[in-house]
Amino acid sequence: MNTKMLSILAILLWVATAAFVGFRFMTGTTVEATDGREAIVLEAAERDFILTEMRGFLVGVQEIISAANDGDMDEVKKTAHRIGSAEVEGVPPETMLKLPMAFKQLGMSTHAGFDDVGLAAEIGPDAVLQALEENMSKCIACHETYRFTTSE
Ligand code: HEC
Repeated sequence: MNTKMLSILAILLWVATAAFVGFRFMTGTTVEATDGREAIVLEAAERDFILTEMRGFLVGVQEIISAANDGDMDEVKKTAHRIGSAEVEGVPPETMLKLPMAFKQLGMSTHAGFDDVGLAAEIGPDAVLQALEENMSKCIACHETYRFTTSE
């Protein structure tokens, strides 16, 4: 095999790898769950990491409703910031590859939705609850479509 053929082979291999990574980035790693949802296959630690974030969402939602009921807009802003876009911390690239594109988009959009809840606090409790209601439709949409399963 001459050098030219070798380099063509190397380029082809590179293109195939890039295409594979791109494909995985879009589709993630999923299997059909027993309940008909798409189960994303993760390592136990990756699943624990995301579920911890989920419980943080739930705590945040309760705190925002409670603060809105008390008319405490500063508290709403504080909580919304805690679970908003600023919170999106480095999910490792190997985990990112396992998450389908639609899941990643919904996840980012949910964090951004809490930024909107924080902005609504400038207006008042009604606006806060309205923004929260809209954002929670994303919790529902994602839970309807996806679940997790572990590869171990
Ligand atoms: C991008 C998708 C997605 C979004 C958006 C999302 N979740 Fe989840 N959530 C999941 C998945 C997947 C699970 C695991 C469900 C399963 O395996 O049955 C989960 C689990 C949970 C759990 C259970 C945690 C545990 O320890 O078992 C809670 C609580 C939760 N989500 C709250 C929320 C709330 C509140 C929101 C909205 C503010 C939200 N989630 C938005 C995907 C999402």
